[in-house]
Amino acid sequence: TGVPMATAAPKLPVKDTYTVAFSQNASNNPWRLAETASMREEAEERGHQLTVTDANNEQAKQIQDIKGLIAQKPDALFIAPITEQLGNVVVEAAAAGIPVFLLDRDVDNTVAKPGEQFVTVIVSDFVQQGKRAAWAMAKATGGNAKIIELEGTTGSSPAIDRKKGFDEAITQCPGLEVVVSQSADFTRAEGQSVTETLLQSHPDATAIYAHNDEMALGAIAAVRAAGKVPGSDIQVVSIDGSRDALTAVDAGELFATVESNPRFGPRAFDTMEQYAREGQVPVQLVLEDRLFDKANAAQNIATAY
Ligand code: AHR
Repeated sequence: TGVPMATAAPKLPVKDTYTVAFSQNASNNPWRLAETASMREEAEERGHQLTVTDANNEQAKQIQDIKGLIAQKPDALFIAPITEQLGNVVVEAAAAGIPVFLLDRDVDNTVAKPGEQFVTVIVSDFVQQGKRAAWAMAKATGGNAKIIELEGTTGSSPAIDRKKGFDEAITQCPGLEVVVSQSADFTRAEGQSVTETLLQSHPDATAIYAHNDEMALGAIAAVRAAGKVPGSDIQVVSIDGSRDALTAVDAGELFATVESNPRFGPRAFDTMEQYAREGQVPVQLVLEDRLFDKANAAQNIATAY
């Protein structure tokens, strides 16, 4: 595929089972819980011993968590970094000889490089997700909308790239305009409170683009509380594909949600084991994502998280 292979990162010997650590950045939404559950299930299936830490959505705590995990000297360390600022602690893990695999979010590659200080990053294509959200928004609104954008956690790779992809795509749609853009930290509560405020300051807004489903669901509650009808007065588009979001799509309150698959476990451990056997893997692995809209939301609710 032309993606370089990881060769200089700390090596992983071939063993039957491994002691593995996973630094999760938060457990405050169904997406995070699904990711952690996928890692736990897959580790158990393969007989690996997995330690999980939860940083409570706090960068300082995640750095301390990772330092603590490094001290335990696991065979391999998985990190879902809260923001791109976690490069230095990845460098510390590499210096301690621990192979690091980044899951779902990246770090600043000028500080820690894939194939060097960490083995690889297993991600969705967040820029592409942002573009697909913009195309869905164009469809929802007939190409004319004044958009409130709810950004994810400031400095996180999905917030950066989902904004970038959306902004790039709407340059092709002169009728789509982002009138205000603010972080709601990927949470439902902030999605609701930030939308309440922004609907007051921008009463002419006709659409909401949320970087994840939880913020979109909070936004939908705020739209209703403002006496407007989500799905007709205000079109809402988001990213993830959670069960609550698919239910909202089916109910006509959410126009579409671009999938961001949280079930990393199988790919994570396949990659780790391949790295042990072959000494190299591609420095970036990208998961395939679907789009959920009225046509397929209902049939996917039962298997959603
Ligand atoms: O990094 C992926 C994002 O993080 C998901 O969209 C979001 O729900 C989660 O918190």
